[in-house]
Amino acid sequence: MSFIRPDIDRIDGYVPGEQPQDSGWTKLNTNENPYPPSPRVAEAITRAANGRLNVYPDPLGTQVRKQIAELFHVDPDWVIPANGSDENLTIITRTFCDATDLVAYPYPSYILYESLADIQGAKHERILLNPDWSWNWRVAEPIIQRAKVLFVPNPNSPSGNRWPPIDIVKLVPPNGVLVLDGAYADFADEPSKAEFLSHERLGRRIIVTRTLSKSYSLAGIRSGFAIAHPDLITAMRKVKDSYNCDSLTLAGTLAALQDQDWMLANVARIQATRARLTTALQQLGFEVVPSQANFVWATRATRNHKEIYESLKSQKILVRYMRFPDVPFAPNGLLDGLRITVGTDAEIDRFLEVLKALV
Ligand SMILES: Cc1ncc(COP(=O)(O)O)c(C=O)c1O
Repeated sequence: MSFIRPDIDRIDGYVPGEQPQDSGWTKLNTNENPYPPSPRVAEAITRAANGRLNVYPDPLGTQVRKQIAELFHVDPDWVIPANGSDENLTIITRTFCDATDLVAYPYPSYILYESLADIQGAKHERILLNPDWSWNWRVAEPIIQRAKVLFVPNPNSPSGNRWPPIDIVKLVPPNGVLVLDGAYADFADEPSKAEFLSHERLGRRIIVTRTLSKSYSLAGIRSGFAIAHPDLITAMRKVKDSYNCDSLTLAGTLAALQDQDWMLANVARIQATRARLTTALQQLGFEVVPSQANFVWATRATRNHKEIYESLKSQKILVRYMRFPDVPFAPNGLLDGLRITVGTDAEIDRFLEVLKALV
């Protein structure tokens, strides 16, 4: 007899990307930023570590909320910091979904959404995208009608494409919330802030999530935030852990947010390398989706993606091999390919040199 909830017993659980613990890897698999965070972050964390670690942190992260509010032109009541944006995705699922409610998301996209729905015991449905990663409205519309929570990563992962505002407005569920997961939003050529939130009619049904893991180079400290109407934020606060962000994270987050120039300079470098990587992959015979994120999705007519991934790995180059079953338009119903994080120029040169020898 098992005491485990059946909903948990039957799922595999989300499998995050590999994090090798030995050195010498060219790590292009989990969309981390290859450049270090602002030096102000370590200074702030050191100050906090030498401060009052014996007391609990500010449960609401007031200073961080004020800084985010200023950056996004909202009131601090619209902001909730979290222990990584994944935590906010969990909080959202727990705040809005009962067992009878539907969690929906584009497919292929971030598979964690499905795992969160499973853990919550909610229903979930995939909205199959077109082969060019655009929305198939005939498929999407009936699901949007029924969705309680619709998660939409924009730019999308693994494709890196970004849907325009005209699509986003159509995605807001009439009886639920649209979660615009902006994990990669800062890498777009024209990054958006949170403009949808000021929409008179739709603004109360949109939640914008952001992370410091990618553009701010802070995957190691786990920091993210969500912005939404205070009615939604107040409900989410009831669900979160009382002290969900520790003192060191709050100090580092504040320092990183205060150094926008540092973040923007790294984003510009990544955008330039992204363009070079895209062209080089195309010259090697890959099809590459034009990316607005810090990674590219590359496929090949020969479809030997797994083999390429393994050969690269044997030479200590790690990219992400991804496979999405149940995609009717893909060969044998399986869409697979390589998601390659944009590293430094030197990392990308090494990757391309090894890849050239392979293909
Ligand atoms: C679409 C998307 N959302 C959210 C996250 C998680 O962000 P965080 O590191 O802040 O939990 C990721 C991480 O890869 C992601 O790809």
